Amino acid sequence: IPVAPFDYIVFGGTGDLALRKLLPALYQRDRDGQIPDGARIIGVSRSKLSNEEYAQKAGEWAKKLIPAAEFDAKTWARFAERLSYVGLDVTSSEGWEELAAVVEGSTRIRVFYLATAPDLFGPICRSLEKAGLVSEDSRVVLEKPIGKDLASAKRINQEVGAVFNETQVYRIDHYLGKETVQNLLALRFANSLFEPLWNSSWIDHVQITVAETVGVEGRAGYYDTSGALRDMVQNHLLQLLCLVAMEPPVHFDKDAVRDEKLKVLRALKPMEPEAVLSQTVRGQYKGGAANGAAVPGYIEELGRDSLTESFVAMKLEVENWRWAGVPFYLRTGKRMHQKTSEIVIQFRPVPHSIFPKDSGMVEANRLVVRLQPNEGIRMHLMIKDPGPGGLRLRPAPLDLTFAEAFKVRSPDAYERLLLDVVRGNATLFMRRDEVEAAWTWVEPILEAWQRRSEHPKPYTAGTWGPAASIALIERDGRTWHEEV
Ligand code: BG6
Repeated sequence: IPVAPFDYIVFGGTGDLALRKLLPALYQRDRDGQIPDGARIIGVSRSKLSNEEYAQKAGEWAKKLIPAAEFDAKTWARFAERLSYVGLDVTSSEGWEELAAVVEGSTRIRVFYLATAPDLFGPICRSLEKAGLVSEDSRVVLEKPIGKDLASAKRINQEVGAVFNETQVYRIDHYLGKETVQNLLALRFANSLFEPLWNSSWIDHVQITVAETVGVEGRAGYYDTSGALRDMVQNHLLQLLCLVAMEPPVHFDKDAVRDEKLKVLRALKPMEPEAVLSQTVRGQYKGGAANGAAVPGYIEELGRDSLTESFVAMKLEVENWRWAGVPFYLRTGKRMHQKTSEIVIQFRPVPHSIFPKDSGMVEANRLVVRLQPNEGIRMHLMIKDPGPGGLRLRPAPLDLTFAEAFKVRSPDAYERLLLDVVRGNATLFMRRDEVEAAWTWVEPILEAWQRRSEHPKPYTAGTWGPAASIALIERDGRTWHEEV
């Protein structure tokens, strides 16, 4: 869908996110002919750079990150023409007139993308207003984390809300831009097959795993103030859980979808301190191996001791009519055995097996939604083992691997979301009340952990996390799903 001409003003323009994700994503949209003539991308950061130096820096990163088959110098040169740069210290009240001179007078849609530390969101918005840069057609995108607890999230939302209306605020969670995450909505609500079974009568439990092989690398400074619960669970994993658990929205539009997600967040059973102890596991990686190479532990990477968790596993409950009694097991961590993000819906076993014992075990059905890598959907069914030798049962997958089935490039999550902002489509962005409801649920866990002030459980880099996370699910007679 074509978009109107725009000015994208990226604060934190020389940062990791802008160079690794945002600019390559906009380049890909340009390559697909989706960026209109006259659209401009303006990087803003403290460093002193000329437009040419900025474009060159962006080009070096893009060349490294974009697959060679998708990077061509001609398209990049066209894209680079759209780039410009303004050096500005956003903590100071000086220098905003230079930015104003670049963007003022244009009738394009203006998007301010705040890829900075969250405590700068409020001050940046105030300075934008003071410089006369905010109009009805302006939008602001807030990167996560929005705060570090409920109070700071509320403060930030309030400060931003003093300048922008809620309809102008786009709180991005890039997991909602992932192809398979949206496919989960198609699977649930464009098929009649699943919805009648999508409840506690037929589903035994749900697992959500987001495992990474990378460590904290260059982001140790930020990460150590955050940890896996704030960095991944409060946003990405809870958003995935909402999409699995929500009631069918009346329409696929921003308020209908977000109303239903909010109801799920409000139905999460609050964790009392004793439940935090028994239902959550924190881990921190030690030196080990990743992708065949030796890697240092978290403490070595950080250069000092730390109580921050790089892994978390938890069992939680959604207290409503549909899900009562169905556990949701979540886990996420850095330096794990392999990069895998998936949602597993484990159905209940058949109520009664008609087959003789020597036919083999009847295993319960399992639906696996793979977010990355190798995106797709796999349904584990029981079938008769092919051949003439009597009736033996065995599990077999019904597999839809998107790359094989559709032969199209799977776009990065940011590609869709960045242009959704220009289109004014907020369906895949978080509303203020959602972010605050997520913090409300997470906060007692953070507090209980803080009170105990314990080291997280160690796990060797390249494994599936601390043994306690395996025990967390196995003591319920279940196992984490691991597919080879
Ligand atoms: C970010 C986190 O939001 O998501 C990172 O801050 C994490 O720590 C990243 O590595 C994971 O995103 P993806 O798309 O690579 O799964």
